[in-house]
Amino acid sequence: MTAKPTTPNPLTLEQMRQQFDAAPYPRIPPEATPEGKYNDLFVNNIVTPFYLRDRRVVDTQGTLILDAGCGTGYKALVLAIANPGAKIVGIDLSEKSIDLAKKRLEFHKFENVEFHAMSIYDIADLGLKFDYINCDEVLYLLPDPLGAFQALRRVLSPGGILRANLHSQLQRLVYYRAQEMFRMFGLMDEAPTEEHRQTVIATMKNLKVNVDLRARGWVSSCEQDNDDGREQIFANFLLSGDQGFTIPELFDMLEQSDLEFLSMLNWRQWDVQELFQNVDELPGMIGMALAMASPAEQLRLYELLNPVHRLFDFWCYSTDTPDPDRPVEEWSDEDWQTARVHLHPQLRSNDAKGELLKSLENQQPFDFAQLIDLPARSAIPVDGIVAATLLSLWDGPQPIQALVQRYKTLHPVHPVSLVPLTDAEAFQAVQNALTYLEPFLYVLLERQ
Ligand SMILES: C[S@@+](CC[C@H](N)C(=O)[O-])C[C@H]1O[C@@H](n2cnc3c(N)ncnc32)[C@H](O)[C@@H]1O
Repeated sequence: MTAKPTTPNPLTLEQMRQQFDAAPYPRIPPEATPEGKYNDLFVNNIVTPFYLRDRRVVDTQGTLILDAGCGTGYKALVLAIANPGAKIVGIDLSEKSIDLAKKRLEFHKFENVEFHAMSIYDIADLGLKFDYINCDEVLYLLPDPLGAFQALRRVLSPGGILRANLHSQLQRLVYYRAQEMFRMFGLMDEAPTEEHRQTVIATMKNLKVNVDLRARGWVSSCEQDNDDGREQIFANFLLSGDQGFTIPELFDMLEQSDLEFLSMLNWRQWDVQELFQNVDELPGMIGMALAMASPAEQLRLYELLNPVHRLFDFWCYSTDTPDPDRPVEEWSDEDWQTARVHLHPQLRSNDAKGELLKSLENQQPFDFAQLIDLPARSAIPVDGIVAATLLSLWDGPQPIQALVQRYKTLHPVHPVSLVPLTDAEAFQAVQNALTYLEPFLYVLLERQ
């Protein structure tokens, strides 16, 4: 046994390759499809972050997307489905994973893809610039995450966006303690094996149930003899190289890489104001400081108060990006009169339309959050007339005036006075509905 406590040794590239050749990730069968998984498609559709930043709806056709550390290619498949017409390039250190990724995309008949067994640190060797980079569940494993941010930043097109994530040190503390403990017993010196997994299970089960590590870190599903159980042990207790970070460390690395923070992917779940019963009743200096806190400070407060998120899962972009268009809250009346309205492309499926038609037939409100709940904290219902007005967005984007006319057709008179609805009243009703839905990105609004 190692007598002294050890510090997590960053893995060498060779050890990392061995780890993922031995246990390629994720263990999702090649035929599995993300079709119908609206949240996954929503965050992997590049329209989402580009709209959050620029208030513009990008055309995915012809864009170049990198999946850095693509593993067995499930996320590359999600990217390919979510971004029609985009070319996907996947890279990973592990050749075994790359082989599985190629087979997965072949199975789903995607041809506009290429895969390379190579390191993120060498990505510039491809001589490509990417409109969007996805680096999911990778950076917290790397010996030099800052170097990886900088390498990825160098291959981002001007105005391009990077999605990456890091493990939260505060949320995962219990696993870092477990990893340290098993490292002292020599379990993390080589690629993890089935014998190591059994050793973890036997040791954890042997701990008295009130011992803190067991009480906080062990759930019965870790003992399952299936892919899920195996993944829980390998991805938590025996994950060599796994490092945790704090929000200030994340922002420091972004600054040193000339990257600007855009948003967490699950931004609604990082709202620090939501953690208080009543922010208006906070002591003056706390309430004031909270209201004036920068995005980085708000996220830091959130992680100190409520470290429940395993990942800091975020989008960022290069600091030389042009200024974005003004947000909807700052639009003039003229901006509104000439606005163009899109449905989020991930909602423009026949299945989603079918759900809306079902609500109309049953004369029930239509809840947008039943399809994509990630940006919402509760149901986001619209009444039948608004739902029927928005139905035309399934055919493509519309000028707001077309929606206003449709609304007027559906709702020609005031329900009590029976006085015909004016254009201004119909416009106001449509504007109210769009203002309600846009913060969740169910509808996307562009100024002309
Ligand atoms: C936890 S898996 C994530 C796979 C995939 N991104 C996903 O989320 O499903 C981490 C992957 O990063 C790869 N990796 C680790 N270090 C790397 C490096 N320096 N360059 C490229 N890939 C690397 C590993 O081989 C492994 O496949």
